[in-house]
Parts: sequence; structure tokens; C-alpha cells
Amino acid sequence: MNRKDTSYLTARPADIVTAADLLRAGELVAFPTETVYGLGGDARNDEAVAGIYTAKGRPSFNPLIAHVPSVEAAKRHVVWTDEADRLAQAFWPGPLTLVLPLKPDHGISPLVTAGLDTLAVRVPAHDTARALLAEFDGPVAAPSANPSGRISPTTAAHVRAGLDGRIAAVLDDGPCGVGLESTIVGLAGTPTLLRPGGLSADMVEACLGQSIGTYKQGDALSAPGQLLSHYAPESSVRLNVETPVGDEIVLGFGNVPCDLNLSAAGDLTEAAANLFSALHQLDGTGRPIAVSPIPEKGLGLAINDRLRRAAAPRGA
Ligand code: TXA
Ligand code: MG
Repeated sequence: MNRKDTSYLTARPADIVTAADLLRAGELVAFPTETVYGLGGDARNDEAVAGIYTAKGRPSFNPLIAHVPSVEAAKRHVVWTDEADRLAQAFWPGPLTLVLPLKPDHGISPLVTAGLDTLAVRVPAHDTARALLAEFDGPVAAPSANPSGRISPTTAAHVRAGLDGRIAAVLDDGPCGVGLESTIVGLAGTPTLLRPGGLSADMVEACLGQSIGTYKQGDALSAPGQLLSHYAPESSVRLNVETPVGDEIVLGFGNVPCDLNLSAAGDLTEAAANLFSALHQLDGTGRPIAVSPIPEKGLGLAINDRLRRAAAPRGA
């Protein structure tokens, strides 16, 4: 791949216009969302989308989320349902992605869906992301802005560390508030939790008035890309550690002795927001990482999901 000069943009209106122009020209722009930084490209442009896979070194069977500014914009591409409407009214803009059947004439590059007949769509809640989507006025395909298999970026510095020289620009608007990727709910059939994330599954269930099944590793097709070793730091990661051994550096949760604490107060929302930054920071030390137990409830389910992937044997 040709090396690019990655330019550095801010949330100023003039920079938002520049970012939208770059997207229109088929270039890639990393931008902040409330969950993590996304690596954006025009979802209708095959070359731009192919460029996303190349820049990330991502396996091509892993489909992408299309980011849109509003429910109306989502409806141009997917078949809308009552369930989609309920969830969108309650949680958009926000950290929720809906997988719905593609409409005829949807206009989306098949590289976005990796050939599936469904599309993952979301309306992000971040002001700068929304300003960019409004200015661009089209669907933006955006996976997390990290090389495939690496820790997701929650600051522009994380993006630069992984993708500098591979993309046209990074739009910096500070750290992401949620810090975990969006929750993905499949609505093409029975509502299914495809990926736990920044919105707890309980809230989705309460809104739909029914419990929803969870995608399990190994279930065919419904959630491609849930590769086990997916959020891997360079260092090894051990989970549920009460007593560290050897040279381990400890990532704590709650009132425990540790080198870095996700949330000394034991607050799962704070822990989620800190997770990827903490992994980036500890990974830089080169020491094996030991993580305190984190409760399997609410956002803890999503945090533990990411941590299990970080701890999985490499190459899985
Ligand atoms: O918070 C987020 O969702 C971030 C920000 C940038 O918006 N984006 C993100 O995208 O996490 P990515 O590409 O890293 O994760 C997309 C996930 C993958 O696990 C993929 O398999 C799933 O969405 N996905 C995409 N399209 C799908 C589809 N049609 N059916 C099932 N799963 C799909
Ligand atoms: Mg990702």
C-alpha cells in the first residue's frame, strides 16, 4: 500500500468540511464516535470500502457497520420493522447497531456487507460524528479504527499509533465517552444479541418487552467476524486474577491493589470507558497483564466479552 500523509483534523467546522470532502473523494477518515474511533469510508464506493479492509488488514468476510445521521437515512438502505422503530426511538442516536434486511436499490457496496443480504446500521450520538455525517450526507462504513485484531482506539493518538500513513486523515475530538463498541442486535429474524456492547442487553430487552437470544461462538453466519482472538494486545492477558504471579502487571476493578484501576469505585460504566485505554497503556509496558474479576452483569458482560477475546490464544 502506498504510504499517505495522514493529516490531522479537529472538530472545527472547516475541518468537518475537509473530512467530508475527503470521504467524497473515496479517501478514508478516522473520526470519533461515542463508542470508539471509527475508520470511515463512503459505504457506496467499492474502492473506498476495499481501502478500509486494506488499511486494517481485516479478513474480508467480516462485514462493516454503516453509520447514518438519522432514522430516515437508515430507511433508505434497510427494510424497517416495528422492532427497529421501537429500539431506534429509544436508543438512537446511541451505542446500538441494528442488523436489518437490505432493501432493493440500497446503494450499499457489497464489500460493506461481505455479501450478506443484511446491513448493520447505526446513528452515533457523538456531535462531531453527527456533524460529519450531516455534512457528507451519505452512509459511512466505519469499523473501529485499529489494525484488525488489535485493541480498539478510544483516542486519536491510538488511531495514529495503528494507522498513521495508511489513511488520509484523523479527526481528533478527544477521548470517546462510552469506550466500548456498540451493542449489535440482529432484527432480520428473531431479535438476537449479536454482540454485547455499550448499551446493556437488559435495556434492549426491556424496550422490546421480550428476552432476546444471544449469538454463540460457532453459530453459523449470523454474526460473522466474532473471531475469538480479536482485541489482542501484544502482551499475554490472564483474567479473573485475585493474586498476580511473576512479572504480571495488574489491571484492577474495584477496591483492589493494582497497577491501574478500571474503576476504583467498582462502576461498570466507568470501567467500560477506561477499558481500551488501559489495555493500550499496560500493553506498552511489555509485561504480562493480569485482570481482576469483573462482575458478569450489565456492561460487565460486554467488558468480559472484550477481555476474553484479548486473553484468547492468538490466531484463534
Ligand atoms: O461502536 C461501534 O460499533 C464501532 C464504531 C466505530 O461505530 N464500530 C465497530 O465496527 O465496532 P466493527 O466493524 O469493528 O464491528 C462490526 C461488527 C462485526 O462484529 C461484524 O461482524 C458485525 O458488526 N456485523 C456487521 N454487519 C453485519 C451483518 N450484516 N450481520 C451480522 N453482523 C454484522
Ligand atoms: Mg473492531
